[in-house]
Amino acid sequence: MPTYFNNATREFHLQTKEASYILHVLPNEQLGHLYYGKRITHRSSFEHLFYVRQQPNTANVLEDVPAFSLDIVKQEYPSYGTTDFREPAFQIQQESGSRITNFIYKNHRIYSGKEPLAGLPATYVEREEEATTLEITLVDDVLNMELLLQYSVFEEGNAITRSVLYKNNGQKPVTLNRALSASVDFFDSNYEMVELNGSWARERHIQVHKLIRGIQRIGSTRGASSAQHNPFIALKRTNADENQGEVFGFSLVYSGNFVAQVEVDHYEVARLMIGIQPFDFQWQLEPGETFQTPEVVMVYSDKGLNGMSQTFHQLYRNRLVRGSWRDRERPVLINNWEATYFDFNEDKLLGMAKQAKQLGVELFVLDDGWFGNRNDDSSSLGDWFVNKEKLPSGLKGLAQKVTELGLDFGLWMEPEMVSKQSELYESHPEWVIHVKDRSLSQGRNQYVLDFSNQEVVDYLYETIVGILEDAPISYVKWDMNRYMTEIGSASLPAFRQSEVAHRYILGVYQLYDRLISNFPEVLFESCAGGGCRFDPGMLYYAPQAWTSDDTDAVERLKIQYGTSMVYPLNSMGAHVSAVPNHQVQRITSLEMRANVAYFGIFGYELDIIQMKDAELQQLKEQIGQYKKWRSLIHNGVFYRLKSPFEDNQVGWMVVSPDRNEAVLAYYQILAKPNEGFKRLVCKGLDPDFKYMLDGGSDLFYGDELMNVGLCLDKYASDKLQGDFSSVVFHLKKEMRMNDK
Ligand code: DGJ
Repeated sequence: MPTYFNNATREFHLQTKEASYILHVLPNEQLGHLYYGKRITHRSSFEHLFYVRQQPNTANVLEDVPAFSLDIVKQEYPSYGTTDFREPAFQIQQESGSRITNFIYKNHRIYSGKEPLAGLPATYVEREEEATTLEITLVDDVLNMELLLQYSVFEEGNAITRSVLYKNNGQKPVTLNRALSASVDFFDSNYEMVELNGSWARERHIQVHKLIRGIQRIGSTRGASSAQHNPFIALKRTNADENQGEVFGFSLVYSGNFVAQVEVDHYEVARLMIGIQPFDFQWQLEPGETFQTPEVVMVYSDKGLNGMSQTFHQLYRNRLVRGSWRDRERPVLINNWEATYFDFNEDKLLGMAKQAKQLGVELFVLDDGWFGNRNDDSSSLGDWFVNKEKLPSGLKGLAQKVTELGLDFGLWMEPEMVSKQSELYESHPEWVIHVKDRSLSQGRNQYVLDFSNQEVVDYLYETIVGILEDAPISYVKWDMNRYMTEIGSASLPAFRQSEVAHRYILGVYQLYDRLISNFPEVLFESCAGGGCRFDPGMLYYAPQAWTSDDTDAVERLKIQYGTSMVYPLNSMGAHVSAVPNHQVQRITSLEMRANVAYFGIFGYELDIIQMKDAELQQLKEQIGQYKKWRSLIHNGVFYRLKSPFEDNQVGWMVVSPDRNEAVLAYYQILAKPNEGFKRLVCKGLDPDFKYMLDGGSDLFYGDELMNVGLCLDKYASDKLQGDFSSVVFHLKKEMRMNDK
């Protein structure tokens, strides 16, 4: 059992195969934190780790506990107002106006397994022995409220999850002003903070900066997790890099407004906190009600950022993504968006589908523009009935024709939105997120439907069920193309208006959940103007996500590299598109575009009808190639080797779990004259075996590939010519080192 309780000292020790997390009951009966880091041996007491530093006369001390101040101890789930002046993990406003609380240890429960979080996405177990859960109940007697601190330890999975359940057992309502998912007090602040920042078409770029005194914070107030900041931060030691050194990763399983921050105090203690964004959030908790915070997944690695990412990949691929598609090979798709935009008809689509089938594509996806009067982005969202002018035989007719060709049929929808010009908005103007008597901003000519209103969610559910039942649709691309403004709901009373953004996300989760339960064979791909809501919450419902609207191969190097910090390759939609690229006008070779897209869920998004025979032949070969590597790329261990954020050369590789084979890629962004030697130093291979490159006859020793590296001047000089050039190798294990 990787979770221990020392009864005499009232300490809890949570152990994964590489990490230890230790907490205890403080002298004032609240919960304190003792240690998070590399796994240490369990012992019957960790009391000696509890260190109260000498306090100056200026410190405030608690009335009931002699010489004790919360300012100078590490806490587990801190509050504000009684001797600790830092930002707290929670704040509860009471009828009296008071925000002072005192949650003390009451009891705890340890059990094998992990229970789901009601209404929220979360990691899960398939067998009880995969995780142990610790639930600690804290109680505030004045309020008659309980906090249930929930910890699940994936010992082999090497991760610890946390969340908190608030219970109001009292007679009066209270208001949660702040209810974060986790807080960790680190001994010191000698860390760098790693974040994934960006914008539309520039998502999840890696940013690293040293911690400084004060608060450093990222988050979202946009109603979605956002492209601007991903719900993830890591603290890494300044000497840690991709392959060595200590890293602590925190990933929030949530798709709405969030905050992730580190406060460095006057003693250099770094307090990390993550959870629902407290700005513009309040939640009224009635007597007898509970409030569940989202889950945060904590990963400790002493093998650098790659070590952390590999743990996230493994856990998210196997114990966050659910359903039959979790373990199935994802189809190679063609999407008509960049090929046609809104300008298509049935003949054109079927022409593409026929051609695609011959190339080896497995799924045809019809994107935006098939419904209402949607010929541009100014109308019709919400009017989910087929446009018969474009598709005279309806969705059913088209889908049947496509499936008869031997392809699966997929459909785009944007369920959360409504156009101002639409029948739905005309009949239900009150169904949009808005504030009475205030003008309503538009984004892409559309409004956000009020998913905090159950009636709206039910309506969408019935509408989508109707579509999925009518036609053979095996894939849905669920898009979401604007952030929220003027946040308010006509269906909620005044005192619940600050709950709208969170209730909205709960509504989105509910709709996803009902659809998935009803259509377990349908593959969902989430999308939000590309990757503006690419987060673990979405992955729980939709096993894959459209990574970015930017399909340029060079820009994608950064986007996919950054995304891989947390998310597995088999969650990232990656398509080969036309040149000049539609987002940046860059011209790259078909080979370069495929070499980047291979490292995701591969597909095409260009007009294959216009392509020349030689290009089509190349597409056919690419698809054949990808199918051979698909399982390895999706299930293997991914290593980032050379960063596009630091270098003109980029490298990464995937090694099969048994280390029998690997696919490695090297990209040269700009050509330079008279450059030095180029080599790719591999990772994760078996040092005692010899490997061979596809199509070659030279044998490479595993240890040599991982230390000397593969000499690219020798093995890829023909490929690495000019700007935006690249090479992908496949390595296969041949024999033991001393075998002849
Ligand atoms: C944004 C998506 O990211 C695109 O792939 C495409 O589906 C458009 N929306 C359609 O409007």
